[in-house]
Amino acid sequence: MWKWTVGIIAVLCLSIAYATSSSAPSVGPKIVIDKSRAGDRCVEDEDFMRRNHMKLLMHQRDETMHKGIRTEKYSLKNCISCHASTKDDRVIGSDEHFCQGCHTYASVKLDCWECHANKARPKAATATLPAATESVAGEKK
Ligand code: HEC
Ligand code: HEC
Ligand code: HEC
Repeated sequence: MWKWTVGIIAVLCLSIAYATSSSAPSVGPKIVIDKSRAGDRCVEDEDFMRRNHMKLLMHQRDETMHKGIRTEKYSLKNCISCHASTKDDRVIGSDEHFCQGCHTYASVKLDCWECHANKARPKAATATLPAATESVAGEKK
């Protein structure tokens, strides 16, 4: 339980950091969201996500939070498909990566990646690049 209390305090501190620093914060985590990939909106309100994304994601919270309404909308894969870096398709790897940057700042460790991919899958049929172009550019791993 202390963990969640610490977490809530961490979220509050982050919120204050956001509130007190205007659009270009010099303190606080560096949060890179590439709108060309992520679009304009998260799966929920930004503020809600900042505070509650962990509740949407944690396995053991399913019972109490959002029981029965989990869909692909909150799947980890879905988060990654929007939040992965456009440079290497990952959400971790450096402090400029979406999940890692903020988590390093908040000192919250994420131990999801030994089981879950942290890399976005190449987009399927709806991709802007035709498949042929993708394999030409396929030296990236
Ligand atoms: C805006 C900053 C921020 C971003 C971006 C962020 N997180 Fe978090 N995350 C936090 C904070 C702060 C906590 C700790 C809060 C708590 O435990 O209540 C947290 C907690 C979590 C937890 C619970 C960890 C635990 O052990 O309790 C998970 C899971 C999680 N985040 C996943 C992710 C994933 C996946 C991403 C990328 C898609 C991400 N987060 C992006 C700030 C962020
Ligand atoms: C459709 C693309 C998309 C998906 C899917 C998506 N996000 Fe987002 N997310 C965004 C965009 C765009 C923003 C910033 C604008 C906004 O607030 O909506 C954002 C904002 C956030 C923020 C707040 C960052 C900050 O500046 O403090 C967090 C945390 C977050 N997302 C986590 C997640 C998690 C966790 C998932 C999966 C459950 C997820 N997102 C799924 C597009 C997405
Ligand atoms: C020991 C392996 C393991 C670890 C570690 C792990 N998971 Fe999972 N997770 C699974 C398995 C197995 C499933 C069920 C199969 C599936 O749906 O992919 C699953 C399913 C999920 C789902 C629902 C399906 C989806 O794709 O969204 C979410 C969300 C999720 N995990 C989030 C997390 C987060 C966040 C972490 C890190 C805090 C984490 N998991 C750590 C094994 C793991």
